[in-house]
Amino acid sequence: MKAFFTEEFIEEVRMNNDIVEVVSEYVHLKRKGRYFFGLCPFHNERTPSFTVTPDLQIFNCFGCNKGGNVIHFIMSIENLDFVEAIKFLAERAGMELPGNDNSESAKEYKLKTEILNINKFVAQSYYNNLMSEKGSGAREYLSRRKINHAVVKKFGLGYSFPGNTLYELLQEKGFSKEAIIKSGLVIEGKRGKYFDRFRNRLMFPIFDVRGNVIGFGGRALDDTLPKYMNSPETLVYNKGRNLYALNFAKNFKDKKLIIVEGYMDVITLHQNGIINSVASLGTALTENQGRLLKKYAEEVIISFDADAAGQKAAMRSLDMLTNIGCKVKVLTIPNGKDPDEYVRENGPEAFKELIDNSMNLVEYKIGAVKKNIDTNTTEGKIEFVKKAAEILSLIESPAELEIYIRKISEQYEISMGSLYAEVQNRKSPKKVNKELRSFSKRQNVPDGKKEFLNKIEISKTFNNDKKIIYSELILIAILCMDNSVFKLVKDKYDLNSFSEENKHIASYVYEKLEAKARIVPVELLNSMDADKAGEFARILEQECNFDDSEKAVVDIINRLFTLKLENRKQEILEKIRNKDKLNLNSLQINELLKELNDLVFEIKKYSEP
Ligand code: GTP
Ligand code: MN
Repeated sequence: MKAFFTEEFIEEVRMNNDIVEVVSEYVHLKRKGRYFFGLCPFHNERTPSFTVTPDLQIFNCFGCNKGGNVIHFIMSIENLDFVEAIKFLAERAGMELPGNDNSESAKEYKLKTEILNINKFVAQSYYNNLMSEKGSGAREYLSRRKINHAVVKKFGLGYSFPGNTLYELLQEKGFSKEAIIKSGLVIEGKRGKYFDRFRNRLMFPIFDVRGNVIGFGGRALDDTLPKYMNSPETLVYNKGRNLYALNFAKNFKDKKLIIVEGYMDVITLHQNGIINSVASLGTALTENQGRLLKKYAEEVIISFDADAAGQKAAMRSLDMLTNIGCKVKVLTIPNGKDPDEYVRENGPEAFKELIDNSMNLVEYKIGAVKKNIDTNTTEGKIEFVKKAAEILSLIESPAELEIYIRKISEQYEISMGSLYAEVQNRKSPKKVNKELRSFSKRQNVPDGKKEFLNKIEISKTFNNDKKIIYSELILIAILCMDNSVFKLVKDKYDLNSFSEENKHIASYVYEKLEAKARIVPVELLNSMDADKAGEFARILEQECNFDDSEKAVVDIINRLFTLKLENRKQEILEKIRNKDKLNLNSLQINELLKELNDLVFEIKKYSEP
């Protein structure tokens, strides 16, 4: 993916997009000393734990641990992949994209475009099949399911013939073999045979938000299994980042979207005028899909199937959507029907009534708890109160809490007082606030007093390997902030000393510093994925203000040696413990004991100040 653009171009794009300016387009920021603060756009919160540091050009959230540079911010908030985010930011900065040279990137771009063209062509051809004589069976299937022609056209439905026709057809049209195979529509067999992925199926083109055909779903016309087949993930199709029919639903005037499971549910809803519906095409929603929903809707209504899988998915999606700050409700359809069946039988008005009666998070969760408990018995009632209190304790607003407590106590004949007491018992101290307080406290510490060994305290929960990786990242960060310690670091800790995970960035940094090139820490983030970028951004912001960089790097390197020696010590102890299984003779055991002895001595040497 990254090969799409050169490193220089990526860095130029980053530099031309000031992070404070970009973030301000999404988040209301307030300056406070070195930082800007705001409410995190990636999780739900009432007190700000989201910071942007202009001089480092990074952002961080102490609530949800997201962090990175402006590219990571745009990827998350606009739900874009890396290449798309670079294009987005390049455009924002009025930069031209690199021309059509022969680089890897240009090739990938061409291939993507070709696959999109193949998809468009094949969708058209499936549609023609459906309208042809041989499509009569599929057309009958559609009329049995009461799908009218206007909707068939709107969704571009089609039919794939039983034989293997696509490869030849696409070759004749001049598409390259590589693109044909990578479109996922044709499968290459042995001895030069090519098979169509979809045969004798009702075809649903899958559109992205912009209306490109990025893949297909195909439904069997009878009891053939699997009932549905989908395109594999391709250069242009990423299932977890897309929502079926969002290209239509995004234009709905109220910012409210209904999310259902299947193709047929959405199509029947659209045919019945409920055009703000989209499908997840599977069960639980991914976080990427959640953010996509959030971009177009203020309220999301989940209407999954009533079966166990559907309800479990609804619960998980509900939590995920709430976490990223969506207002969510759950719509339950009576008698275990799916939206398609319900609307066909009862009409759109009945479904709209269900929409109005959909339950919010608390109501839904309490309802789900109630389902499994018999509240007619005393034990049942107690269990119910406890579980309900657990859910109610998540409500932050006192007014809202009172309304629920009143409702539930009436409904289940429990005294308001006891329910209230149970809720208070469970209310956890506000985590984010606490974290923020300790954060501000840390900022007030005079820089000179910060010692590396205190800092590493925060990683108490890490195992040794994780501590090594983390300490190395701090080392790299210091190197970028203060290039003057490079020689000292290089002499004590060469490239081979780095763990596999950090070797790549370490060698990038060493190479640049060796060539006496300037290096800014935020540049390193360009090549990191979201998790790593978040971790590194946190290190840059919080762990890296050393008064005396030289002393700091010596401390860190000693610490790294100690950690590695400890790892070796554990290895030896393990061997000695398993000496019988390993068939060690006394000579070998003696060797190990001797090494152990030396190790203990060495560890002591490094850990003494
Ligand atoms: P109909 O029977 O046509 O009404 O389909 P449905 O949408 O009611 O089916 P169901 O509730 O079983 O599945 C919901 C969605 O899950 C479908 O629209 C598909 O996207 C997906 N799905 C269902 N069955 C399969 C399958 O066998 N394989 C795959 N890959 N996906 C499936
Ligand atoms: Mn169905």
